[in-house]
Amino acid sequence: MSLRRLQGKVALVTGASSGMGRATALAFAHEGAFLVCCDLNPEPNPNGYEDDISETTVDVIVKNGGNAIFQKVDISNFEQVEAAFEHTAETFGCLDILVNCAGFWAPFRKFVDEDDELWSRMLQINTAGTSKMSRLAIRQFLTQEVDEHWGSRGRIVNVSSCAANIAYAGEVAYSATKAAINHMTRAGAIDHARDYININCIAPGVVATGMARGNLENQDILKTMRGATPWPRLGVPNDIAQAILFFCLPESQWITGQVLSVDGGMTLGVPAG
Ligand SMILES: NC(=O)c1ccc[n+]([C@@H]2O[C@H](COP(=O)([O-])OP(=O)(O)OC[C@H]3O[C@@H](n4cnc5c(N)ncnc54)[C@H](O)[C@@H]3O)[C@@H](O)[C@H]2O)c1
Repeated sequence: MSLRRLQGKVALVTGASSGMGRATALAFAHEGAFLVCCDLNPEPNPNGYEDDISETTVDVIVKNGGNAIFQKVDISNFEQVEAAFEHTAETFGCLDILVNCAGFWAPFRKFVDEDDELWSRMLQINTAGTSKMSRLAIRQFLTQEVDEHWGSRGRIVNVSSCAANIAYAGEVAYSATKAAINHMTRAGAIDHARDYININCIAPGVVATGMARGNLENQDILKTMRGATPWPRLGVPNDIAQAILFFCLPESQWITGQVLSVDGGMTLGVPAG
């Protein structure tokens, strides 16, 4: 039997109960990683499209013979974030991969109608939460040796949005806090390349998850999203999970600071009608 590609690696995934985070956790477990599944709750977002939505991510992984624990974390609560890293170190003794998938989106509204509370929440979850998670992961990575075969001391993969690359109507706070993640990726990667720590980012297009269901069920918004996506279908969580997985394999060890659009071509330009 061929060795699985993340055999024995310890991976912490935020937003792991649903959507892209869940698909990533399942893909990593399939490749032999031990998972720390972090989320607000173990149960999936009830609006999600998962076939096995009645089961938690940890239950699915364990049922399939994998190794995973759930850790309750709101990434905007720094005490909970610190506790998650302490618990990971106590349980597994190390951390190899962090995937920052948890994020906050709010229904479309014009810039003028955004309020301070919305901005504060977006900044605290999307930007400060991702930063805090990343800094604690890097501190842990720096206590560990470089894995010669893997080529790294540790890897971080962030999840931003196509809205971080080009402007979309009605989501200024979301776009700006996700654009901060894109640049945190580049600037952080420069600081830690010499440490053999890779930091990359996926910028998803429209993906069928619980977060997107409200838009996908609104015929006007759905039409706009389909029209803006050149590829003939919208995204599914595994499209994102497989790209995140690539950023964690030995083959991608010389890639750092990159933001990869996985969006069916949405950010390329204006598609044919
Ligand atoms: N679905 C899309 O079309 C789309 C497009 C671009 C980017 N994104 C981004 O993708 C990421 C994943 O979203 P998804 O579409 O899979 O949604 P989802 O609702 O299926 O999953 C998001 C998960 O994150 C968790 N979460 C939310 N806030 C959290 C917090 N403060 N701390 C910890 N966990 C938290 C939720 O409980 C949920 O389980 C998000 O960062 C989102 O902004 C989504």
